[in-house]
Amino acid sequence: MCGIVAYFGRKHAQPILIEGLKRLEYRGYDSAGVALLEKGAFNITKTPGRISALEENLPEYESDSTVGIGHTRWATHGQPNQINAHPHVDYTGKIALVHNGIIENYATLKKWLIKEGCAFQSETDTEVVANLIGYFYDKNQDRNGRFAPKDCNRFEWAVQQALSEIYGTYGMAILCVDCPDMMIGVKKGSPLILGVGKNEYIIASDASAIVQHTTQAIYLSDGEMAIIDSDGFYTKTITNKEVQKELKEIEISLDQIELEGFDHYMQKEIAEQPVSLETCLNGRVDVKNGRIILGGVSQYLRELTRTKRIILTACGTAWHAGLVGEFLFEQLARIPAEVEYASEFRYRNPILEEGTVVIAISQSGETADTLAAIEQARDRGALVLGVVNVVGSSIARLTDAGVYLRVGPEIGVASTKAFTAQVAVLSMLAIELGRRRHLSTDAVQSLLRELMEIPAKIKRILAQTDYIRQIAQANKDHENWLFLGRGFNYPVALEGALKLKEISYIHAEGLPAAEMKHGPIALITDRMPAVFVATRCSQYEKIIGNIEEVRARGGKTIVVATEGDEHIKPYADHLITVPETCDQLQPLLTVVPLQILAYHAAVLRGHDVDKPRNLAKSVTVE
Ligand code: F6R
Repeated sequence: MCGIVAYFGRKHAQPILIEGLKRLEYRGYDSAGVALLEKGAFNITKTPGRISALEENLPEYESDSTVGIGHTRWATHGQPNQINAHPHVDYTGKIALVHNGIIENYATLKKWLIKEGCAFQSETDTEVVANLIGYFYDKNQDRNGRFAPKDCNRFEWAVQQALSEIYGTYGMAILCVDCPDMMIGVKKGSPLILGVGKNEYIIASDASAIVQHTTQAIYLSDGEMAIIDSDGFYTKTITNKEVQKELKEIEISLDQIELEGFDHYMQKEIAEQPVSLETCLNGRVDVKNGRIILGGVSQYLRELTRTKRIILTACGTAWHAGLVGEFLFEQLARIPAEVEYASEFRYRNPILEEGTVVIAISQSGETADTLAAIEQARDRGALVLGVVNVVGSSIARLTDAGVYLRVGPEIGVASTKAFTAQVAVLSMLAIELGRRRHLSTDAVQSLLRELMEIPAKIKRILAQTDYIRQIAQANKDHENWLFLGRGFNYPVALEGALKLKEISYIHAEGLPAAEMKHGPIALITDRMPAVFVATRCSQYEKIIGNIEEVRARGGKTIVVATEGDEHIKPYADHLITVPETCDQLQPLLTVVPLQILAYHAAVLRGHDVDKPRNLAKSVTVE
């Protein structure tokens, strides 16, 4: 949510910032801006709308400035207009900054600064930080009237003073006109990476804006700052203690973040699933010996096997994967499990008995609510494991141990390949715990054989893309849809509804199919498609009954069924088939046609599926 990028080096900063912002645009896209440090002043361009609009508004000549900061916004405080767009400059005109996060005590600080004579232009929380730094820099005194120490850098000192007043989250890049040879990056609760190239440095919210320039990076931890100057860079805490950081290799490559001939990232990521799942499973599944090898959590497997309760916590699509996980742990390992919305869990004062294990699931590893839920769990002494995609992300670092998804960057705002990998990782964990607790070797081997066949089976589903597109075409104008499933296909129904609503803006509701007659059946008409996920699994006969109930009321059905199921044909106005697999692994297959259906419905309705209205990837604010 919000992307920041900053450049300090010898090349022209402007094109590098624009390119970086385009890479980060999936994090927010309601307004954007850049500030270049040039001849003792800031040259600022800001605009509502996309990066393309910002480009159109840039001055005709290309600035030769080699230092600058840029921002693409997802509005939290104040409308997405030009004034509220970042960068923000302080009342003296000397400090400029870009910010990702939320300043919780901004209103109190703003009141105080106004009393002190600072003028404000915008409604944002960010401008308060700019003015706060500007105030301390200008006065050269802290709030108690103590002067800045003589031997310190006043800009750096003013930043530290300001941060000591702030509650909230931030990833920021900050410039000062009096210090053209200096740039400061600070982090707390929002992601921030410092790319270290040859005579150049790039601060960014994520590695996608850096990897084109360098693969060496420093991952700042919360409460740390990086100061870049003409001699190089150094890192310290925001309370002024020196810290040594290790240079790490960025693990993503440029081709992973290119469209490579696809129209949208979502389309590319759906199509990638046979390969991304193979990578996720690779080296972790030993069918011959009926074992799972998950190096990241191996030291905790004994504790996990003995646990009395597993709590899965996540948001959105990752929560749906968590619901599949709940069913998997219960069925395969016979361990009581429940999935919790991280946003609720964090405020509920949850009861975690001794020995409870918490599993946090997140693609980005930066979701604010999930991070807070993890902190809650850790405070109560629980072992917390992560199922995360982004290597080195905040959740990956905050958890005791974890398993990476290994699916490469997911850029489309609607999560697809991360969901299937999350389910695959939870399946592996549940099978391994089942093996350790009670499952026979035969049962484990049969599950693992099925798991290894999933990538090839997804390929067969992808081959039906044109046909599914026709179904989308026939139904795209309906404004209300129902998604229904039972057992392991119930979380898939929820996920199918979420996919459709978030990118096509069609109202869609996902339900356990049997719940329909407790209310929602009142909605059924021939203008409300009901999508049934009705594969041949343990509740097959039951869901056929539910389909009949809808059809008896004139409802139109789109049915996802098992290949070769002749019996179900008369129940479907549109029939999509998926290859056969066992009950527990159904979601890995049945979700794919629903992703394709949602994608095409949205494209046919003329929407930008990678940048859906009001949304952004990686929800780093509460
Ligand atoms: C929906 C979607 C979101 C995310 C949710 C959690 O397609 O992408 O619902 O799943 O915001 O994000 P992560 O997994 O990054 O924690």
